[in-house]
Amino acid sequence: MPTISKKGHDMPASPIRKLVPYAEQAIEKGKSIYYLNIGQPDIKTPEVALKAVKENDIDILSYSRSEGSDEYREKLAKYYKKHDIEVSRTDIIVTTGASEALLFLFSSIMDPEDEVIISEPFYANYIAFSTATGVNVVPAICDIDDNFALPPIETFEKLITPKTKAILICNPGNPTGYLYSKEEIEQLAALALKHDLFLVADEVYREFVYDGNSHYSILQVDGIDQHAVIIDSVSKRYSMCGARVGCLVSKNKTVMQTVLKFAQARLSPPTYAQIASEAALDTPQSYFDDVIKEYVERRDTLIAELQKIEGIKVATPKGAFYCIAELPIKNSDDFAQWLLEDFDIDGETVMVAPAGGFYSTPGVGLNQIRIAYVLNKESLIKAVNILKEALKVYKD
Ligand SMILES: Cc1ncc(COP(=O)(O)O)c(C=O)c1O
Repeated sequence: MPTISKKGHDMPASPIRKLVPYAEQAIEKGKSIYYLNIGQPDIKTPEVALKAVKENDIDILSYSRSEGSDEYREKLAKYYKKHDIEVSRTDIIVTTGASEALLFLFSSIMDPEDEVIISEPFYANYIAFSTATGVNVVPAICDIDDNFALPPIETFEKLITPKTKAILICNPGNPTGYLYSKEEIEQLAALALKHDLFLVADEVYREFVYDGNSHYSILQVDGIDQHAVIIDSVSKRYSMCGARVGCLVSKNKTVMQTVLKFAQARLSPPTYAQIASEAALDTPQSYFDDVIKEYVERRDTLIAELQKIEGIKVATPKGAFYCIAELPIKNSDDFAQWLLEDFDIDGETVMVAPAGGFYSTPGVGLNQIRIAYVLNKESLIKAVNILKEALKVYKD
């Protein structure tokens, strides 16, 4: 029989999606599930975006430009200006989600065996993109006891080797909800400049910042233009995960020309979804005010309920809509599967993401889970109660 590639073999299964078959079996048995595993918000997509597609009268659903439609990128540049990020249309390439932007960027700036330093725990698919491109992930370990704050910059610096090409952060962070301060961003930028590295920031959760804090983007730092790349997406901002539209933003022309070659090879980003994304830029601020208020209430509810569980440790997120919880168990993979297969309260159970897949350091995070607070408060209370009761009977 023909064999698959080594890369294919090494490609990790998504910790967020790998338990889906067990969830399907639970549903077949008549159980219902609170999905805390995946960042699929239950928030309504802005009407203006859906309307733009529904009321559209194009008669040929053609390709767009490989870099994305001019109209959309023009309007996106204005959006960034509102966020104090000075870029123009030509500094933006539209992609099929932030996922494709990350894959194009990894392929454009790194060769196999090159290293990217990523603050850990990190969005699990960063491992998938590095495996796909042969790049080695070097983790900068952040600790739950420090609320996952950036480690001292000297610790970061010690991880730099001749193979290091980039530092990648997610701000605010998935899975930790950590929000980088202006000082931390400036320190990282200075380090990138000193060692001539790319500084990449995945800012797909830019809008989701709580407690009166504000988001500080890497492209707001003076002098970092040629080193900085932003990864972005409409998925979470407008609850438009299914649109599959993201983008890559950089003022480094060589990076952009290289990314464009990858973008040309896949022809173009989706046309209807760009129409929706362009219209979504007219979403009023009141939409975000309401959504942020809702997420803050959910976060507060979730953290308060989790803290009632004996033996649990949880870091309070300052942004995005995830948190990591450390449980009094040994193996959260096993626990998460057991919840779906063997546990329910009145026919209801919970699906969580085992956190081991958000770490590249072997053996770390195995007693942690990632929770996405994308359900309403009542559901969150019920789901945490199921976790609490489950932990009373679960045997490692
Ligand atoms: C941090 C982070 N980056 C990128 C992505 C991928 O986003 P997209 O749906 O735009 O591909 C996600 C999705 O959950 C994410 O959490």
